[in-house]
Amino acid sequence: MLARVSEADTSAAYGDERAAFRSAGHVLVDSVADHLAALPSGPVWQPLPDALRKQLLEMPLPEHPAALDDIVATASRDVLPHAMGNGHPAFFGWVNPPPSAAGVLTSLAAAAMNPSVVSGDHADVHLERAVVRWLAELVGFPHPPGAGLLTSGGSAATIVCLAGARSRALAQAGHDVRRDGLAGAPQLIAYVPAEAHSCVRRALELLGLGSGAMREVALQEGRLDAAALRAQVAADRAGGALPALLVGSAGTVNSGAIDPLDALAEVATAENLWFHVDGAYGAFGVLDPAIAARYRGMERADSLVLDPHKWLGVPVDAGCALVQRGDDLRDAFSLIPPYLRQDADAPVGTFAEYGLEQTRPFRALKTWATIAARGRAGIAGQVARANTLARELATRVEREPELELAAAPETSIVAFRARPVGCPPARLDELNRALPEAIQARGRAFVTGTVFRGRETLRACILHPDTSSEHLATLVAEVVAAARKLAAA
Ligand SMILES: Cc1ncc(COP(=O)(O)O)c(C=O)c1O
Repeated sequence: MLARVSEADTSAAYGDERAAFRSAGHVLVDSVADHLAALPSGPVWQPLPDALRKQLLEMPLPEHPAALDDIVATASRDVLPHAMGNGHPAFFGWVNPPPSAAGVLTSLAAAAMNPSVVSGDHADVHLERAVVRWLAELVGFPHPPGAGLLTSGGSAATIVCLAGARSRALAQAGHDVRRDGLAGAPQLIAYVPAEAHSCVRRALELLGLGSGAMREVALQEGRLDAAALRAQVAADRAGGALPALLVGSAGTVNSGAIDPLDALAEVATAENLWFHVDGAYGAFGVLDPAIAARYRGMERADSLVLDPHKWLGVPVDAGCALVQRGDDLRDAFSLIPPYLRQDADAPVGTFAEYGLEQTRPFRALKTWATIAARGRAGIAGQVARANTLARELATRVEREPELELAAAPETSIVAFRARPVGCPPARLDELNRALPEAIQARGRAFVTGTVFRGRETLRACILHPDTSSEHLATLVAEVVAAARKLAAA
């Protein structure tokens, strides 16, 4: 027998849900505020208790509904306290900042609206256009309407940009990659410095160029031998390949180095290569007057990736792809079936015509709120402060006989190594490789490792607005103590 659902029953159920939402929401906001307030005085990170890990992993699928109050209580008790650690000012791992308070709060409103940000006359669409323009303005990149969009992060933005590069290069060669794929196409070649982030290689693999199409751009102490690069391009052309792409970093992931962007842009222009700049971590560094000149040439890139969810602290996820000519992306991606033609014939079309995603989340509200809460001046101050702290950390490292600096920092990443007394040189790589986990387990600072110039290296990335000299001192002391312990083991 069919159950009868009366109108009164339905609205009463919704009324109950709205009341429950309001009361559970207040509780949740309070527990989030308590969590954020308690963060600096707790351990940076600690492993989950075994029982809780097991409980989370093995949670059975519920048959019956749970009350919102109980869901909020479980999230507050079992999830919120067991975070990655990047909320703490002594967290120096990878490239992960704490979230901005404005971004956290407005994420709730974005979820409550729950739009698909593609097209139409709703606020989220217009806000994304404005926010993308703000991001371009912040880093001094030209921005004709439509020439950029928010993505899930730097990796996705890189795929978007390099798809634009691929389609433009092949179109110029008379090959329609969207119709014919890569079959019968000339071999595209990409020139990429060794320190480029792995997302560049992944994009090239995914786009069918293959990592074999990558040529390393040699940089000596950050300088480009333009003649050598142009000779390589000529040799590739002579061999029948199609040189298509040149990549530079506005802040490398290992050491925060800024590539010689102007010199790279010169070669790209002279050789008709698409110039792509990866500014996922470092593009906002241009706001620091002390190093702004190092970014000259970034504004000449055909495409620029930047990540609001890195230095700006927009809650994950928020990446951004910017291009000089929006049509380069539109040509690569636009596909409008009859069921998706809203705004398709408007001058800039829909966001789905410029990238990978059809249903798109409302990333712009938290990004707008994060920028609005600080303003350009506030962001510039935070960026400059992080860079100053990085130089201070480098000085502290150089002063400590059991540490050595791997590179002088240009931005807010410091690469360094431990060399504890009594550790034979042959064991140093092994020790430095083991160090990050040993330090993390102690709970007072969090740093991660890499291989830089062929050697195991620690890298401390400073992004937290509350990181202070005190936290740098803690990091140095923790590295030295953990390294001594490992050396003695
Ligand atoms: C320089 C650089 N490029 C690209 C990326 C990839 O960005 P995402 O993790 O947002 O995909 C990162 C991430 O740390 C990065 O540091």
